[in-house]
Amino acid sequence: MELTIKDLDVSFIQGDREAHALRGINLTVGKGEIHSLVGESGSGKTVTSTCIMGLLPSPPVRINKGEIFLDDINLLSLSEEDQRKIRGMKIAMVFQEPAKYLNPTLKIGVQITESLILHLGMSKTAAEEKALDILTTVGLGGGKRILHSYPHELSGGMKQRAMIAIAISCNPLFLIADEPTTALDVTLQEQILELIMDLRNKLSMGTLFISHDLRVVHDISDRISVIYAGKIVENSSKTELFAHPMHPYSRLLLKSIPDAEKRGTRLVTIPGKVPDAENIPPGCAFHPRCPFAEDICKIEEPEMKEYQEGHSAACHFCGTGKIQ
Ligand SMILES: Nc1ncnc2c1ncn2[C@@H]1O[C@H](COP(=O)(O)OP(=O)(O)OP(=O)(O)O)[C@@H](O)[C@H]1O
Ligand SMILES: [Mg+2]
Repeated sequence: MELTIKDLDVSFIQGDREAHALRGINLTVGKGEIHSLVGESGSGKTVTSTCIMGLLPSPPVRINKGEIFLDDINLLSLSEEDQRKIRGMKIAMVFQEPAKYLNPTLKIGVQITESLILHLGMSKTAAEEKALDILTTVGLGGGKRILHSYPHELSGGMKQRAMIAIAISCNPLFLIADEPTTALDVTLQEQILELIMDLRNKLSMGTLFISHDLRVVHDISDRISVIYAGKIVENSSKTELFAHPMHPYSRLLLKSIPDAEKRGTRLVTIPGKVPDAENIPPGCAFHPRCPFAEDICKIEEPEMKEYQEGHSAACHFCGTGKIQ
């Protein structure tokens, strides 16, 4: 299934205060594609994913405009009941912290089988058999013991795998992974990334993979969208983005990646931070931190422009020769 987000614009309203979290997001994740959404903390990644899942409470959230389609299903116009069905059957999500998502009082087996029984109408025995299969798929062999374990009896990496097992139990067609490896050490991180690639190959799931770290997404992504202050500022195939980054923000994010050749040199950190959603600078939101900014950047917001087929960026000076 293909996921398409069109001009999604979302605010949090509290009294007379408005936090403008998403300012016209456009993004397409093709069937079976792994599309990464990358940006620093506070840029709008989680608001995007929870909005797709229909998990943003309104109020305080106000969807100002925009549409989200899963193939031809208009997700934002569904009733709550239909949204719940889609969440169980078609779209699944894994989160940064499994501890928050797993129910500490229920055995892992019950947490996997309950959705199989509820959504797929399986018998308890059939659901338990399927749960064992799924646990093997996510690399939790010796499944019987895991089925009877409580979350606190599992290590961090096992909990993350158990959460992925629950997420994929009903054969979702689309997976959202919101920083699923951030809390893990490097070895476990690599294992979970391999698992996500493996699942895409086995199940042809489209995946929106969220991370603040371009290093993490390098191996798994087909396409990458870079998000800054609630807007996509660059969208490209992974290969193109790493070879020819266009937006100054993407370039700085890439420079903060240590690579083997440059070992020993200091990492660049980008001075300043993502603006608060209540206080987005006028013009290009990145201008206060941008080494190339000129007067126009403070006044006029640059549009996304396609510079090469499938490679777009939003910057007044992309393609002008000023940014080499
Ligand atoms: N419940 C809320 N009320 C008000 N503002 C919010 C709320 N949730 C998020 N925001 C604002 O929306 C913006 C985007 O937040 P979001 O959580 O999507 O960032 P993120 O990219 O996921 O960051 P991180 O990498 O830290 O997870 C931030 O400015 C944040 O302050
Ligand atoms: Mg987040």
